[in-house]
Amino acid sequence: MKRHLLEAADLDRDDATLVLDTAAQIESALAGREVKKLPTLRGRTVVNLFYEDSTRTRISFELAAKRLSADVINFSAKGSSVSKGESLKDTALTLEAMGSDAIVVRHGASGAPHRLAQWVQGSVVNAGDGTHEHPTQALLDAYTIRQRLGRLDGIRVVVVGDVLHSRVARSNVWLLATLGAEVTLVAPPTLLPVGVGSWPVQVGYDLDAVLPKADVVMMLRVQAERMNASFFPSAREYSRRYGLDGRRMGALPDDAIVMHPGPMNRGMEIAAVVADSARSTIVDQVGNGVSVRMAVLYLLLGGASASE
Ligand code: NCD
Repeated sequence: MKRHLLEAADLDRDDATLVLDTAAQIESALAGREVKKLPTLRGRTVVNLFYEDSTRTRISFELAAKRLSADVINFSAKGSSVSKGESLKDTALTLEAMGSDAIVVRHGASGAPHRLAQWVQGSVVNAGDGTHEHPTQALLDAYTIRQRLGRLDGIRVVVVGDVLHSRVARSNVWLLATLGAEVTLVAPPTLLPVGVGSWPVQVGYDLDAVLPKADVVMMLRVQAERMNASFFPSAREYSRRYGLDGRRMGALPDDAIVMHPGPMNRGMEIAAVVADSARSTIVDQVGNGVSVRMAVLYLLLGGASASE
């Protein structure tokens, strides 16, 4: 693997499979253990540098680093010298001067992790940059699909909703294509990005038409905080055309699964009856996120040579 994980588009099939296989090995090594911890990154320091709000991604990275015995610093822009105007570069150099080996960064600006990677010596992991990418989310989604359905090759994945603002959708499109899945995007035309025609996907506008042939339905959050205009007539109208409710779930093949990266707008893009159903992998995705992020940190920080 390269020194950084900046985008899923960078990962070839071997890299991506190595992450998924390593996560599976870590999971089975820890299964049934009372102490869920490996000594691999003892003495290493991982900094979580979060400029945007996060619940699961930040906690998941923190837990992943701690389960590998690394020291973890959680930095959120709120309450730091960022509010005094300190730049991303100065903040990163300060953290590195204090001995960080890896920086896990979430930032509202697309491309911020790439800039950071040019300034620091250690590894940079993109934990979500603007509307660009969120590679570890795509890796944990791929891991979850493989765990539930046994493979990724030839699996039909329908990604539904606010693709325009979704870094989760972008990362999934690239990773799933690399791993041989067939992706269909279903969204209102206003919530599809310019240039989607060059992505390795099919595009549709009729959710009911694609559900009967889907193996996986991945629902996206409607990202109201990134919307500076009105992209659809009303929440009700959105939900009626693009929401996954109990009736639509009934149209899925028997073993199809329903995914959502969280946080959910229950009742908007996904009905509670679907989110809480046996088909839903939402809770599994969160659990798998820790194993996958452990694998990423282990592979980037050269855990193998650091372990005794
Ligand atoms: C996503 C994110 O922040 O990009 N959440 C996550 O990391 N699980 C998706 C979202 O906010 O809708």
